[in-house]
Amino acid sequence: MLEVKLECPKCKNQITIQVKQGEKILITCPKCKTQGTFTLPTEKSVQQESKKEDILIVEHLRKTFDKDILAVDNISFRVHKGEIFGFLGPNGAGKSTTIKILTTLLKKTSGKATIDGFDIDAQQAQVRRIIGYSSQDVGVDNDLTARENLLLQCQFHHIPKKKAKKKVDELLKTVKLIEAADRRLKTFSGGMRKRLDLASSLVSGPKILFLDEPTTGLDPQSRQDIWDYVIKLNRQGMTIFLTTQYMEEADHLANRLCIIDQGKIVAQGTPAELKEKIGTDKIKLLFKIDDVESCEKARKLLFKLPGIETVGECGLGLVSENGLTIMTKNGSAMFVRVVRALDEEDISFEQLTLSVPTLDEVFLKLTGKTLDVIERKKAVKPVGRRR
Ligand SMILES: Nc1ncnc2c1ncn2[C@@H]1O[C@H](COP(=O)(O)OP(=O)(O)OP(=O)(O)O)[C@@H](O)[C@H]1O
Ligand SMILES: [Mg+2]
Repeated sequence: MLEVKLECPKCKNQITIQVKQGEKILITCPKCKTQGTFTLPTEKSVQQESKKEDILIVEHLRKTFDKDILAVDNISFRVHKGEIFGFLGPNGAGKSTTIKILTTLLKKTSGKATIDGFDIDAQQAQVRRIIGYSSQDVGVDNDLTARENLLLQCQFHHIPKKKAKKKVDELLKTVKLIEAADRRLKTFSGGMRKRLDLASSLVSGPKILFLDEPTTGLDPQSRQDIWDYVIKLNRQGMTIFLTTQYMEEADHLANRLCIIDQGKIVAQGTPAELKEKIGTDKIKLLFKIDDVESCEKARKLLFKLPGIETVGECGLGLVSENGLTIMTKNGSAMFVRVVRALDEEDISFEQLTLSVPTLDEVFLKLTGKTLDVIERKKAVKPVGRRR
């Protein structure tokens, strides 16, 4: 048994609990009655955590353009070897600027960054040897075939011809383009171009791969394909640094992530940690469209239920809906209590749904804005030759 001191996230009350290692317990704050689960890590997981090696260390990085545009504002973070690290943020957040600095394509204004121990300024050649980079705009050549594009990349990396031919075949197979290998890129779809661009960034066999919005503008199937390759590469041991404006992408792929807005890091952690720290579960209760009375009765009733943080107003939300939104920390337990309470008071309803917090809600809470870019489509167009 260990004695652990915790701070209540709501009222900041100091709570002391007795807990076994690895044990999951439900805690109720004696002061404000907020409930939450807590697991004390096992010795093994604590050791594993502390053993993790950092491949990328960024300290107080800043970048200004034209003196008054502050694109990257004093950011610090670390990427562990072998993880997928997400860099999530809206348009103009500073994602591409950061990635360009880290891949030695752009000079920083101040700060420090090392990749596998090499300084990004003083040891650029060593850094370039161990990184792969796929830019936001597809950088493959339109007049060449897929195979020719990759062979060209091999030449840039001084890979001998025989070895290059084998490597190109392997890469084309990996990104499922072997059948289209000898077609000119003019005839490729956006998804095919992105896949080829990803293959290009793998030519050098990088230790860490930087992907700048690898799926923006792609259809769901092509996005899934890219996700599958990223996961496959990561399982083979490659560290992935990925920028995205899609919260589902960060949620699905990233082991840990930074949320960036207006050049600043507003939060960092695992997707689960971020959601747990900031998000609350949402219960949506819908009534028959003309049954305003039941909705109002339910609102008054649920407002008094302990553990419920907020209850919305009836009729807000979609015009065609008559319902309430309830915010609570412990959605699944509260779900049952809501049904029971409504039942006891004989209040009939049409639908009850529970949704867990999303990274978008985390972002909304931190910045007052929503990421909300799921439907935004940006054309994937070629931008000339990669030289
Ligand atoms: N070369 C440049 N000259 C001047 N300002 C720039 C330059 N490049 C970027 N910026 C500005 O820096 C800020 C960050 O831009 P950046 O391209 O890094 O954002 P981003 O997060 O990659 O956005 P997006 O999701 O649209 O790609 C923006 O305000 C942008 O206008
Ligand atoms: Mg960008």
